[in-house]
Amino acid sequence: MKRLRCDQTPAWAALQICFEASGKNFDLKGAFAADPQRFASFSQDAPHVFADLSKNLIDGASEALLLDLARQCGLEQYRDAMFAGELINRTEQRAVMHFLLRNPPLARAEGEKETKKGIAAEAAQVYVTLDAMLAYAEQVRADDAITDVVNIGIGGSDLGPQMAVLALGEFATRAKRFHFVSNVDGNELAGVLKGLKPQNTLFLIASKTFTTTETMTNAHSARRWFEAQGGEGIARHFAALTTNVAAANEFGITTTFGFWDWVGGRYSLWSAIGLPIAMAIGAAGFREFLAGAHAMDEHFRTAQLAHNLPVRLGLLDVWYRNFHGFSSRSIAPYSSALRRLPAYLQQLEMESNGKRVDMSGKALPFDTAPVLWGEPGTNGQHAYFQMLHQGTSVVPVEFVAVKQATCWPHDLLGHHGKLLANVLAQAQALMRGKQDAGGHRDFPGNRPSTFLLLEQLTPASLGALIALQENRVFVSGAIWGINSFDQWGVELGKVLAKDIEARLASGNIDGLDASTAGLLARLR
Ligand code: F6P
Repeated sequence: MKRLRCDQTPAWAALQICFEASGKNFDLKGAFAADPQRFASFSQDAPHVFADLSKNLIDGASEALLLDLARQCGLEQYRDAMFAGELINRTEQRAVMHFLLRNPPLARAEGEKETKKGIAAEAAQVYVTLDAMLAYAEQVRADDAITDVVNIGIGGSDLGPQMAVLALGEFATRAKRFHFVSNVDGNELAGVLKGLKPQNTLFLIASKTFTTTETMTNAHSARRWFEAQGGEGIARHFAALTTNVAAANEFGITTTFGFWDWVGGRYSLWSAIGLPIAMAIGAAGFREFLAGAHAMDEHFRTAQLAHNLPVRLGLLDVWYRNFHGFSSRSIAPYSSALRRLPAYLQQLEMESNGKRVDMSGKALPFDTAPVLWGEPGTNGQHAYFQMLHQGTSVVPVEFVAVKQATCWPHDLLGHHGKLLANVLAQAQALMRGKQDAGGHRDFPGNRPSTFLLLEQLTPASLGALIALQENRVFVSGAIWGINSFDQWGVELGKVLAKDIEARLASGNIDGLDASTAGLLARLR
């Protein structure tokens, strides 16, 4: 499919004119005063998620041009190509079909009808593996001898399951402890193992490739610990979640749950990599998680662009990055349970869209992914919100709030009311500002934010929230014309680390730059 580069489209030129004419001096308070319908026009209902976009530096005219940009860049065709199973990950010649993992078996009959001919075989494999994985999850949940589950994985094989297990802690109906070990720093594994007994522990070795240094090093050490502690039965106490079943078997693991090369690591929590989530919330809960994400996919696939939440968010990201020049976005979940969401989204956004070349490898003359960062509220307020309110850079903030508290102390002691008051107040303060002649107490205001609201934090709403974020990253990546599904940028450091590891052992500094050689000498 021949696509126009975004900055060569008529819409891009029109957006530049629009930005110069009104966009760069956009006045949020003025916009609300001028348009009583602003909240309604810039809010959007999507499955399980309500979004208020009205406190963003955008109006009807600029959003209409952004929608033109999407059409002129072929966003709809590109989206449809993904859902049809085409090889859109061109640098790896792979399809991108994580959406298939959440086309829930609950709706299997309907799903089979919908599933395009070309991907029916994959869909069938998905269902079989999902059933097997959920049966195993239930078996482990019922096994009272297993009290501790240790997930060993890194990147997408850690961040997603860890984030979701924490987020859905209220839905964990069996008393099991979950631990996540990712860092090759041995202190992490040692710290977790300290309190464990081999006969009560299940290790999940989570690695798409089953070659990642950190994971393999931790997995070997875990096995050594298990054997040294008198543990018996690797088959019962180790399972592998991987596309490389042969390597897992070679490691000595016979319980394996596979997935496929068309699932990117950062999109893999819907696959076997999600096993810790299923063990925490049960098979039915995991199916609800998938169904929530599927509902968001259907919204993304079918809603008109103008009322399509992932599209509106992705286009806003382009507007802020390429026209306003904002180089970062802060994510502030006002929910302690969502405390790992910023780390999870960091990988999703920055590993997907942190690219400087187009699909054919040509350098792009415009910026792509912003830096994504954040902490849960209200903690962030007492750390870096100072800069958000009064710093020299404008950082769009994305708030995530949950209407109904699910856990005990909130209502009893008014915690939840305070939490919600704070999230609303921060969004309001960023927009309103406050004038003070003295300077130090002056708040410029007019600082943009988006407000995402979940009725309740449930498996379904979490699934929808994550699928929303995946699809919005797809949208901005599609506009920029980059391949959001490879990650070559992580390879060089991995290769050099292997070389340096050998040099640390041998002391050979031949050919090294003076800084690396000097540091290496000090480290030996
Ligand atoms: O180094 C980056 C990366 O490839 C991520 O994309 C991936 O999520 C992570 O490493 C872990 O890879 P694996 O699951 O193959 O161990």
